[in-house]
Amino acid sequence: MKTVIEPFRTKVVEPIHFNTKSRRRGLLEEAGYNLFALRAEDVTIDLLTDSGTSAMSSNQWAELMRGDESYAGCSSFYRFESVIQSIFGYKQVIPVHQGRAAEKILFGTLVKAGHHVPSNTHFDTTRANIESRGGVAVDLPARSDSVDKAEKGFGGNIDIDAVRSLIERVGAKTIPFGMITMTNNSMGGQPVSLENLEDYSRLLEKAGIPLYIDAARYAENAWLVKRRSAEHADRTVHEIARSIFALADGCLMSAKKDGLSNTGGFIALNDRTLAESLKEELILSEGFTTYGGLTGRDLECIAVGLEEALDEHYLLYREKSSAYLADHLIESGIPIVQPAGLHAIYLDARAFLDEIPPELLPGQALACELYLEAGIRSCEIGTVMFGKTDKKTNMEIPHKYDLVRLALPRRVYSQSHYDYIIEAIENVYRKRKSVNGYRIVSQSPRLRHFTCRFNPVDERAVSGRHKPVRLLKRMHERSGA
Ligand code: F0G
Repeated sequence: MKTVIEPFRTKVVEPIHFNTKSRRRGLLEEAGYNLFALRAEDVTIDLLTDSGTSAMSSNQWAELMRGDESYAGCSSFYRFESVIQSIFGYKQVIPVHQGRAAEKILFGTLVKAGHHVPSNTHFDTTRANIESRGGVAVDLPARSDSVDKAEKGFGGNIDIDAVRSLIERVGAKTIPFGMITMTNNSMGGQPVSLENLEDYSRLLEKAGIPLYIDAARYAENAWLVKRRSAEHADRTVHEIARSIFALADGCLMSAKKDGLSNTGGFIALNDRTLAESLKEELILSEGFTTYGGLTGRDLECIAVGLEEALDEHYLLYREKSSAYLADHLIESGIPIVQPAGLHAIYLDARAFLDEIPPELLPGQALACELYLEAGIRSCEIGTVMFGKTDKKTNMEIPHKYDLVRLALPRRVYSQSHYDYIIEAIENVYRKRKSVNGYRIVSQSPRLRHFTCRFNPVDERAVSGRHKPVRLLKRMHERSGA
């Protein structure tokens, strides 16, 4: 059969809600045009994030009753530990309540003021946790023009020469470890190739620098290695995952993504001495070493979810459903980041709304318009999230790009939901000339995108018409080095 179907059927349904457009207009105004301020029940299709939003399987739900809630030494921990040891290959397993807790504990122990930590691109919380220790989080994504043929399709790679230059410039002693995010969330969910990871691992090993993988979407990365490199096509995703983690000293994982769970995470590594220090920190902030802020039933659900995420029928369906969305949008001439990753589709809002200058926040405008049109909640990733306000002129200093992320929760939406999303985006594209821009009217000094409020504005073309720019190229411009 050529048709790829969802490798599951529905047993429990969760109703979704519909509002009229005029009701949504009122709700949006009340929310200060910030989609984070909406109640989830006022959203019809929620594409804000793929984190913690997966549908659990019947096997995961069944595990809820098996959860051992003993404070110390619960059987659920030993199951969790043995699944992680078998997939990731590390001996020491430390549970935490979510990915950023793993970052806080590992970086709190290893990062000192003045340290540099290279990565292909640090996720926001990773960067913030390094910077809060006085460290420098350095993004060194491989530039698209330097990628040779064999590495096409691996837009998440790290720039090996740039890492080498960094080591020469700052010295290996100021680099406590290197990181790599798989897949690279901040670069459109692009995967890292096994060859690139080998080169990175070898370079760091020579310099005596350990390597840790941010494994939030490692199963999707392993799948894309299988699909995009001929030499790994015949291997199982499990085997590829083992090869990936064998190249590093340990990993941090948010189980809210490829753990197919609604909460949780872990640190896994081989260094016993370091693990002992991390466990001391764990007890201070998360809890005892055999639960780390999770219940026994969460540990069980994650153990099952981690194995289910490696199921190749599931991964094929995941690839095909994101490609379905991407291909339809591309056919309609809608600018998206290409190639599309598995966990999200990114609309290029600056090209989509090319009459709204970046100062008037085209990403926010597009996200608001999708909500007004069809109750779809997405996430601006651009000037609102990363830009700053010029204190003198009160104008926004635009970020390098303005994207809108349509994150795809795992096993949640079906093809008809995707058709609905496609129709809504096409409708907005058709009337894009009449969409207005926005200005921020109140904001907090840090992580402003979560809470700031906006006003719609009528002005047009403050800095003239903006031509669409090839997005991946723009995204590959380095930051932080
Ligand atoms: N690393 C990556 C690559 C992530 O995408 C995230 C979270 C984290 C670490 C932190 O994990 O949320 O469990 O604390 N990403 C979510 C997102 C929030 O929407 O992309 P967490």
